Amino acid sequence: MAEPCPTPLLGRRVVVAVSGGVAAYKIAALVSRLVQDGAEVRVAMTEAAQRFIGPVTFRGLTNRPVAVDMWADLPEPEAYEHIALARFAELLVLAPATANTLAKLAHGLADNLVTTTLLATQAPILLAPAMNAAMWENPLTQANVARLREAGFHFVGPETGRLGCGETGAGRMSEPEDIRAVVLALLSPENGPLAGRRVLITAGPTREWLDPVRFLSNPSTGKMGLALAQEAAARGAQVTVVLGPTTESVPPGVEAVRVDTAKQMRQAVAARLAGIDVFIGAAAVADYRPEASAEQKLKKTGAPVEVSLQPTVDIIAEVAVSPDRPTVVVGFAAESQDLESQAAAKLERKGLDLIVANDITQPGSGFGTDTNEVLLLDHTGKREQLARMPKRTVAERIWERVEELLGNR
Ligand code: C5P
Repeated sequence: MAEPCPTPLLGRRVVVAVSGGVAAYKIAALVSRLVQDGAEVRVAMTEAAQRFIGPVTFRGLTNRPVAVDMWADLPEPEAYEHIALARFAELLVLAPATANTLAKLAHGLADNLVTTTLLATQAPILLAPAMNAAMWENPLTQANVARLREAGFHFVGPETGRLGCGETGAGRMSEPEDIRAVVLALLSPENGPLAGRRVLITAGPTREWLDPVRFLSNPSTGKMGLALAQEAAARGAQVTVVLGPTTESVPPGVEAVRVDTAKQMRQAVAARLAGIDVFIGAAAVADYRPEASAEQKLKKTGAPVEVSLQPTVDIIAEVAVSPDRPTVVVGFAAESQDLESQAAAKLERKGLDLIVANDITQPGSGFGTDTNEVLLLDHTGKREQLARMPKRTVAERIWERVEELLGNR
């Protein structure tokens, strides 16, 4: 029998928002469990919550600062804490959800860090109510809950049992293990925005051999393409990467087809194109290959050598006109000058839906770095400049755009 995965939430981003109720002490156990599951957890607290449990506890458990101040100064790209949290979250959990915070949420109020974050996010929100039984059964609370359910909020609990106030009744927060189970279900890739979609990505460099020991290549590591693959898998897609030579590891759940030359990459793509919804050409494919590759190692004679180069086939341009054309075709443009006009021309010439342009002369952008600073241009004329950010975050933003372009198609 297969071992259960020890880190089912590896790399998933969860914000746990804590409002002020006695059950707040149990949230330490929930946060600890989610961290052990591999999630990246950030905690936000209301002022009232801090009377029940200290931010220091959560800072220790998550190894990250705890968000308590709406007015904290943040570095770029997100100037405000609630926007940073709202964007970071793949899922937000409000636990305990007090009658007061539920009431504010039901009416769109945003008067503290937790409520502003909840209103600002596009991620799903899970609510774990906890309150005195009379407060829970109060028709006003019940009307708020009905309103929130209708608006698509998810609920776990409350249970009936012993309450913090000493009474017994409905209003007891679900146990951390039960909240975690719902978090797992909500974050399972089957529920992701790319569930049921098939994605094919090229990544890494290619090698064009002059002889058995020498080749033409470039410094691409495949990091950007692999980040895109990882993010697509997390969003529920079935992902294949056609990967040039690299030492980077392939994310779990992603199928990799290893290739070496541009020709092999082209063949590997063509053989897998049928039924693909999204193709992303993130590979730095060689544009030229030596006309002839010597079978034996070329001898050093001391005399100059001339090498004749032949153009390779443009893989992405071929994909874009294929009878099996995926619904969305995304290319990259690494430029060292005239970034925007070059990228726009490439988008047009290659028949792409979206192009991700980066200026490879900028520090922290382009080949081999862990960050990237890109400009997104799409076929509808939409233009979006992203700040410098980790490649995984760039990947998220690209997928958000691709999901828009996919729409219901
Ligand atoms: O024209 P240029 O090489 O700058 O275009 C870059 C884009 O085209 C990238 O998306 C790259 O993966 C793709 N490409 C390709 N096949 C080639 C050359 C580039 O798919 N032979």
